[in-house]
Amino acid sequence: MRPARALIDLAALRHNYRLACGLGGTRALAVVKADAYGHGAVHCARALEAEAEGFAVACIEEALELREAGIAAPILLLEGFFETAELEPIQRHDLWCVVHSPWQLEAIERTALTYPLTCWLKLDSGMHRVGFAPADYRAAHARLMASGKVARIVAMSHFARADELDCPRVAEQLAQFETATAGLVTEFSLRNSPALLGWPQLFRHGHGSEWLRPGIMLYGATPFERYQEQAAQLRPVMTLESRIIGVRELPAGEPVGYGARFVASRPTRVGVVAMGYADGYPRHAPNGTPVAVDGRPAQLIGRVSMDMLTVDLTDLPQAGLGSRVELWGAQVPASEVAAAAGTIAYQLFCNVRRVARFWLD
Ligand SMILES: Cc1ncc(COP(=O)(O)O)c(C=O)c1O
Repeated sequence: MRPARALIDLAALRHNYRLACGLGGTRALAVVKADAYGHGAVHCARALEAEAEGFAVACIEEALELREAGIAAPILLLEGFFETAELEPIQRHDLWCVVHSPWQLEAIERTALTYPLTCWLKLDSGMHRVGFAPADYRAAHARLMASGKVARIVAMSHFARADELDCPRVAEQLAQFETATAGLVTEFSLRNSPALLGWPQLFRHGHGSEWLRPGIMLYGATPFERYQEQAAQLRPVMTLESRIIGVRELPAGEPVGYGARFVASRPTRVGVVAMGYADGYPRHAPNGTPVAVDGRPAQLIGRVSMDMLTVDLTDLPQAGLGSRVELWGAQVPASEVAAAAGTIAYQLFCNVRRVARFWLD
């Protein structure tokens, strides 16, 4: 059997969820969209079910996967419905629904509903992606209330730059949110992982009844580019690992792999690892991207190919055929691999595929 695999540590997931709730001092929806950022939505939701207030997914297809697996907790659709016909299963499966656009509001007004909805009304406080503009927010709220179709409204918005720890836009978005929603709501939701980890000073006074929406921090990756104290307490959930399946001794001057991107500058012992971009390992990871071989630091050399990649074993004489290689996990932070490859840990995790996944509890 090909030795490439992803191990998912569900105890670490629970640790990170507790850390999120502890930092925010309040309730949270665990964000498990995109198959829990590649970690397996059903397994992750089951692991958190006893303590999470609910879950957030992107769309009804993801929500139904959880309902079919027996998850009974509240599930929020972060992009709401994509067509009016989804309102019927949204009611039937008791799903919560973001309302971010005028057409969704009109659809709710027009549609006969059996049960009243729980709507999360989204404000565009500065991300400029979806959500009602501040000038339109109160009118949208009033229309939802007047529709008679809604039992509960949670005001929400999303930060665009909370991962930049000194960015003034975060406070500006919060001020925009407070102005637009003043006096309107008792429940609200703003904070994603970077806002929760990195901006405690902004939320010191409490602003009513808040729902947190942690995502990446649940999976143990920092959303920040530099060291951050709270993020350092996260435990990585995914270990992507494989084994050495071939060893080559190359004289100085010889290249490795496609395009000769690495040329040995000294006699080099090359380890071939069963892991490639078809498994989700980033093809653009450069020479020098960190890996760990039998627990020791080592480096990627040569271009990543579809099913294999190569690492430098010259300084690890004890490593050889069958040695365990960690691509990311407890020893090799996913965020460091992501930074080296010019992406973010979110994408690394979501891209993992083909490898067998094992959930450890
Ligand atoms: C609306 C919304 N809330 C929360 C999250 C979770 O964000 P993070 O993974 O940065 O915690 C996301 C993720 O993209 C999102 O789109």
